[in-house]
Amino acid sequence: MSTVTSSFAYPSKRLEGKVAIVTGGASGIGASTVRLFWENGAKVIIADIQDDLGQDIANKLGQDVCYIHCDVSNEDDVQNLVDTTISKHGRLDVMYDNAGILDRHLGSILDTQKSDLDRLIGVNLVGSFLGAKHAARVMIPQKKGCILFTASCCTSIAGISTHSYAVTKYGIWGLARNLAAELWQYGIRVNCVSPYGLITGMGQQRLTSEEVEAAEASLSEMGNLKGEVLKPEGVARAALYLASDEASYVSGLNLVVDGGFSVVNPTMIKAFNMH
Ligand SMILES: NC(=O)c1ccc[n+]([C@@H]2O[C@H](COP(=O)([O-])OP(=O)(O)OC[C@H]3O[C@@H](n4cnc5c(N)ncnc54)[C@H](O)[C@@H]3O)[C@@H](O)[C@H]2O)c1
Repeated sequence: MSTVTSSFAYPSKRLEGKVAIVTGGASGIGASTVRLFWENGAKVIIADIQDDLGQDIANKLGQDVCYIHCDVSNEDDVQNLVDTTISKHGRLDVMYDNAGILDRHLGSILDTQKSDLDRLIGVNLVGSFLGAKHAARVMIPQKKGCILFTASCCTSIAGISTHSYAVTKYGIWGLARNLAAELWQYGIRVNCVSPYGLITGMGQQRLTSEEVEAAEASLSEMGNLKGEVLKPEGVARAALYLASDEASYVSGLNLVVDGGFSVVNPTMIKAFNMH
């Protein structure tokens, strides 16, 4: 049994020797996480449906990174992803269920189509469920592992996403807590990273760099923490912490990366003109 010690001597490569799957690893938060995990010594498997983008990242990073086509809403694909990882590396240390999609712009429940809800549940929630299930299948015999999800800060404050998206992200957070309650006995930690809004490939925007800068500035202006812009690397760094042994006693946590946005109610501050 490992014990928590007072030593702060963590290795400079924080995932040295670990094997990690990142779903949605071809773009945005996932792509940043793939690079950061790899820089920290992990062998990384990118799982996505954007084959050219995913393969391109794998080719650039070299032999410790590979790409596997996997539609996370399809159980056969997820089973194949995990089985191929085990055949190649013999173990799975980190399963980062990060793939996700958005539906439409914010709107009333009256405008929400069941088809949108079904599509989001299929990818965001069922995809996370299947990833966790097949990761647990191989982690339980290992008696160790880390399952990580990307939820959203809409799990901490209401009204900032569509209803369908909120349903899926709250579902992921509920799943993470329930899994933490089952899997602790096998030494498996389960956590979420929950970002504030940031500019990624989500929404299929093809933005120029000026448009990205303007969109980031407006998100930053709406946010709480001034002088900082949340980028994919900012979320990847939170995922790296949770995946690493630095978080060896952290399980059941929703690590909200939102600069305090979801805990501050600016109404009174504005009313008293305090800033
Ligand atoms: N961008 C934001 O503002 C924001 C905020 C909070 C949470 N998130 C969450 O972060 C996660 C990553 O999103 P992102 O912002 O990096 O967007 P992104 O679009 O850049 O990346 C998402 C990736 O998931 C992949 N994907 C989509 N459907 C898939 C499927 N069925 N199977 C496998 N892969 C699939 C996409 O191809 C893409 O590569 C998502 O879960 C998203 O909900 C994003």
